[in-house]
Amino acid sequence: MIKHSALIWPVLLGILALACTQEEVSPAPTGDRQGKVLGVATTDLPADSRDQALRALEQDAFRRESRFLDAVNPGHLFGATRVEQAEIEAGFWTHDELFQIGAQIFQLTFTSEVGFGGEDLPIIRRFHTGRRGGPDARRCAACHWRGGPAGAGDGADDAYLDGDGDSQSSTLARNPPSLAGGGWVEMVAAEMTAELQSYRDNAIIHAKENNKTVNLLLTAKGVHFGSMVITPDGNVDTSGVVGVDLDLVIRPFGWKGSFSTLRDAVEDALLIHHGMESEFLVAQGDVARVGSFGGMDPDGDGVIDEISEGQVSALTLFLAMAETPQQVPPPQGEFMPLLAEGISKFETLGCATCHTPHLTVTSPLFRLPSRSGGPSIPVDLSKEAAEPRLLPNTQTGEFQVPLYSDLKRHDMGPELAEGRPDRGVAGNLFLTRPLWGVARSRPYLHDGHAPTLEDAILLHGGEGQASRDAYAALDDAGRAPIRVLLTSLTRARRITVP
Ligand code: HEC
Ligand code: HEC
Repeated sequence: MIKHSALIWPVLLGILALACTQEEVSPAPTGDRQGKVLGVATTDLPADSRDQALRALEQDAFRRESRFLDAVNPGHLFGATRVEQAEIEAGFWTHDELFQIGAQIFQLTFTSEVGFGGEDLPIIRRFHTGRRGGPDARRCAACHWRGGPAGAGDGADDAYLDGDGDSQSSTLARNPPSLAGGGWVEMVAAEMTAELQSYRDNAIIHAKENNKTVNLLLTAKGVHFGSMVITPDGNVDTSGVVGVDLDLVIRPFGWKGSFSTLRDAVEDALLIHHGMESEFLVAQGDVARVGSFGGMDPDGDGVIDEISEGQVSALTLFLAMAETPQQVPPPQGEFMPLLAEGISKFETLGCATCHTPHLTVTSPLFRLPSRSGGPSIPVDLSKEAAEPRLLPNTQTGEFQVPLYSDLKRHDMGPELAEGRPDRGVAGNLFLTRPLWGVARSRPYLHDGHAPTLEDAILLHGGEGQASRDAYAALDDAGRAPIRVLLTSLTRARRITVP
């Protein structure tokens, strides 16, 4: 373990180097700078549990050393993650390094010195004020921890969105979902969006060219999203569209399906939970989101450039490259027949109509777009993501993403419905929550009020009512196979030091 402290000297030198150049934004990272952030997370996962234990202890030692560095030079940890978008686009950082920097940002404590909070906001507040947010926590990992890195949150970690800043009843309660596999979720959604939009665009051309009304059935990856009627003048009647916004963009992030990309979700999380305003949001200048002080410091806390585009990119890549959830069969051999029965019951009870066991994507390339019009950054998740990774189907070369979701919004009935819309999505509509990794993300449902898988199933209503009733009609032995299947949807075993 001692050998690890060899890191401390290059790191200290790095601080000195940084202290001297604090004023200028250096275009290229120095060698020292790289040494400072690496070590908090790695993309490989040793198969041998002793190797894993050693790795976990090394990471713990790195964290302890980092704390000493921060004690000597407060703000060091955050400063070490300060990468610039231009550096990333120029290829100065490998994807693996960006993953580690992102992991570091995910773990660290945001302080008011670096921009946490805002002049018009209390120090910490659980009940959000509109889209401006809390701030309600100091770290991403404070809420996303259960079941492994970038995991889910417990009931006590619920966020209370879009309220009056004062009372719980004014807010929309949301349980932190697990972020594992996030890159694949975005890629599935992007392919579905492209498919839906190309059908629509072609149908408009067709209607005009043939002077005919076209009744278009909207289907992407086998999931149905209602229909559209397009008249010869190119007018589109969207009243038959269901489960997706009228622009046909699949938004797979958030319980209601609010964001189409990880980057948007990350940027919003930084803003509403921590008051950390990205350059992009500041430039957009939406007062309801960033505050009313204007200029470069719209939250008026005296800190500008709170989080760089490069840091947002690193955080986004960390989540895009997060490990893929796994299906792990039960350890007791006698449960195996139950798992097989569960897989077939999941179909016959109708669960699979919404929780589609897998959706297929053709390309393993995650593309992180540049906000400044620069090139997008392609990352091959089948080679570069954290282990365990999703590998191609050996026959087709395609990727079957075992999401257990159709990425569509459904009416879940009056029991689960909320009294008002959330970012334009009606109170009764929720996105089919992906069930991969579900065994490691207790509690369940959008506000976390279902303590067990059984409770979550029994609370389904609306479009899920028939399926729920079919489950409820079974005796306990009949239900067990479904629960065994859900329990097998987990994450890789790994040793972590809390
Ligand atoms: C106070 C708890 C809390 C903190 C802190 C927090 N999150 Fe979240 N996170 C949530 C909740 C709750 C949701 C669901 C939001 C919704 O449904 O609209 C969420 C959703 C997300 C999503 C979308 C995931 C999905 O599949 O729907 C991403 C990505 C995310 N958070 C990233 C982050 C990052 C990055 C940070 C730190 C900058 C962070 N979160 C900090 C509670 C938190
Ligand atoms: C009509 C579509 C639909 C059907 C059918 C359906 N579900 Fe769901 N399921 C959803 C939606 C939507 C949610 C999220 C609800 C929420 O956000 O509160 C969900 C949530 C869940 C959850 C909680 C996930 C979590 O992370 O909190 C579980 C477990 C679950 N469903 C299992 C099942 C099982 C088992 C069946 C079959 C008996 C089933 N579902 C049938 C749409 C459906």
